[in-house]
Amino acid sequence: MSSSAIDMNRNVVVMAKQYDKTLITIHNRVLLDVLRELEIPLRSDCGGIGVCGKCKVLITGGNSTQPTSSERKLLSYKELSEGYRLACQVRLIEGEFEVSVPPESTLQRYKSADTGFERPVPLLPAIKKIFVTLPRASLNDTRADFERIVDTVKDFINSNDIDIDIDDIRKIPETIRNSDWKVTIVAWYDKRIIDVEAGDTRDSAYGLAIDIGTSKIVVHLIDLTNGSTIAIDSTPNPQASYGADIISRLTYALKDDENLRRLQEVVIKAVNVVIDRILSRANVLKDRVYEAVVVGNTVMHHLFLGIQPKYLGYSPYVPTIARALSIRAKDLGISIHRSGTIYVLPVIAGYVGSDALADALAIDIENCEAPCMLIDIGTNSEILLNSGKEIIACSTPAGPAFEGFGTAFGTRAVSGAIDQVFIYFDSSIQDFVVRYHTIGGEKPVGLCGSAFIDATAHLYRLNIINNRGRFLKGIKSKRIVEINNTPSFILAWSNETKIGKDISIDAKDINEILLAKAAIAAGIRILAKSANIDLTDIKKIYIAGSFGTYMNVENAVTIGLLPSIDTKKVEFVGNIAIGGAKMCLKNTEIRRKAEELARRIKYIELSTYPSFNKIFMESILLPQITSRNQESSLQNGG
Ligand code: FES
Repeated sequence: MSSSAIDMNRNVVVMAKQYDKTLITIHNRVLLDVLRELEIPLRSDCGGIGVCGKCKVLITGGNSTQPTSSERKLLSYKELSEGYRLACQVRLIEGEFEVSVPPESTLQRYKSADTGFERPVPLLPAIKKIFVTLPRASLNDTRADFERIVDTVKDFINSNDIDIDIDDIRKIPETIRNSDWKVTIVAWYDKRIIDVEAGDTRDSAYGLAIDIGTSKIVVHLIDLTNGSTIAIDSTPNPQASYGADIISRLTYALKDDENLRRLQEVVIKAVNVVIDRILSRANVLKDRVYEAVVVGNTVMHHLFLGIQPKYLGYSPYVPTIARALSIRAKDLGISIHRSGTIYVLPVIAGYVGSDALADALAIDIENCEAPCMLIDIGTNSEILLNSGKEIIACSTPAGPAFEGFGTAFGTRAVSGAIDQVFIYFDSSIQDFVVRYHTIGGEKPVGLCGSAFIDATAHLYRLNIINNRGRFLKGIKSKRIVEINNTPSFILAWSNETKIGKDISIDAKDINEILLAKAAIAAGIRILAKSANIDLTDIKKIYIAGSFGTYMNVENAVTIGLLPSIDTKKVEFVGNIAIGGAKMCLKNTEIRRKAEELARRIKYIELSTYPSFNKIFMESILLPQITSRNQESSLQNGG
C-alpha cells in the first residue's frame, strides 16, 4: 500500500488505523489539516493555534518537525518521548506515519441530532408474516374462509382467540381466490390478523420508530425482516407555534378542549407528513408498515394521544396514564397500514416521559457499571441514576437558556450559530483573543447553548468573572464593554458576523446560564444524595439528546453543570430515545422489559425534596477551580 504509492511529490503517507483510513499526500503539511481531510474526529478546541493542547495524538514512523514551544509547554516530557504530539503543531516531512487518537482527544459527536447510539437486539417483532397455501373450498370442505385461514396458521400462531377487523375480513374472499389460495397472513402478536396479502410477501414488512420531541419530531423507518434502518427524517414540532416549551403548551391545552384538539391535530399531521416523505423516499408502501413505536416526554405523550395534560401542571403532577398502550393507528389518524398498531411506551412520571425510558433502555442502564448516570439536557432535563441498588429518576426545569432562548444573542443550533468558543490572553497584544467555531462554517448569527457554556467557563478561568458570574472591575480589554448598562464581553466583532453587529455575552446571559446549570446540578446532587453515593464514585455519565452534540465536557465541569469527575467518564450518546424506540419495535421482549423497568424506576419529585432550595442556591455558584495550571497554559497564544 505504501511503498508503491510514494513518489517525489506525494511522499507522505498517513494511516489512521483505528478509523481504517489512509491518505497519501504532499510533504510539509500540518498533521491537523491532514486529519481533518481524513475526517478523523479530533478535538481542536483552540482552532489549531497551539494553546489548548486538545489535539494530542500519538505518532509513529516518518520524519516530522521538532516539537514547538507550544508542544513543550502543553505536553509532558514523558508524552513527548513516547511520541505524543500536537496535531496542529507538527508538520510531516516524509515517510509513513501511523497516527492514533487517544480517547481524550476524540471529538465525541453525533453529527445529526436525529440519531444516536444504538444497541443491537435480536429480531423478534410483534409482526409475524406466514406464507401459506390454503386448502381450497369444496363441497367436501365448506369451512368459512376465515376459519380456513385460522386452521392453516395454527402451527405458527396461537390462534385460539385471534381477532380481525371487519375491513380486513371484507378483503379476504377475493384475495385468496385471486391469488390461487396462496397468501401471506400478517399477524400482530398472536392477537390479531391484520391482513391477508396475495402471494408471498414475507420479504416486505416495515415499522416506524417515532420520537415526538418538544421541538422536533424524528422518524426512523425500519425493515422488520432484517432490523436495518432504511430511512431517517425529521421535522420541527409544529406545536412550537403554540408555545416553545412544554409548560406553555400545557397552559394552552388546559384552557379548553378545542386547544387540546388543535395541538393533537398539528402533531399528528406533522407525523403523517414525515411518514409520507420517508416512505416515498424509501419506495415503501404504507400498507406494508404495520406498526409504529412512539416515545416522547409526558406532555408530548398526552398531547399526541389527545389526553388533556392539565393535571401535569398542578402538584402532585400525575399523568392520566403511565402504562404502555397499543392503539389502532386509524384511531389516532396515523397514516400506516389501515389495521396497523401504534405502541406507545410507558411514561415514568409527570415530567419523566417515555423518551427517558427509551434512553435508559438504549444504554442498558440496568446493566451499566454502577453507579452510572444518564442526563438528557433540554428545557426540561431528565436525570436517571443506577446506584447499583436501585434506579432513581428526577426531572429538572433547566429553562430554555441552553436552547438559545432568554439570552441576548442566543439561538438554536442553526447554521451560523457559534457552537464552540475558546478565549485566551495574548500577552503580545495585551488583550484577550477569541477563537470560535460556527455550525456549517457560516458567519456568526448568534450563540447556541454550548457556546454559552464555553464562554462562561473561559471568562471564569481567565478571572474576568467571579464565582457568582459577575464581571470583575478594572480589567482592561477592548472586548469588555457596557451594553445597556450591563457588562458584556464581545465574542465576535460586527465585521465578522452575519448580523452586522457585535455578538457578545453579558452579565444577564451568564446569570441565565448559571440558573440553568444549577437546576441540572441540583438534580444530579439530589439523586446522588438520595442513593447515598458520592458523585466522584460515578463510573459513567451518559449525555443524551441533541445538546450533547456540541457540548465541551471540561467546560461543563468548569461551570459546575457536570460534577467534577474524570471527563473520560462522560460519553455523548446522541438521540438515544429513538434508539430505545427502535429496540422496542424490533424486539417484543425488550418491550416487556421496558414496561417492567418503567415500574421499577423510583421517581423523586425535586420540588418537594426538603433541601432542594438550599442545594439549588449552592449550585448557582461557579465551583472553585482547583488547578490554575490549565489557565497558565492558556496564556499567550504561542
Ligand atoms: S488545536 Fe492544537 S493545541 Fe489547540
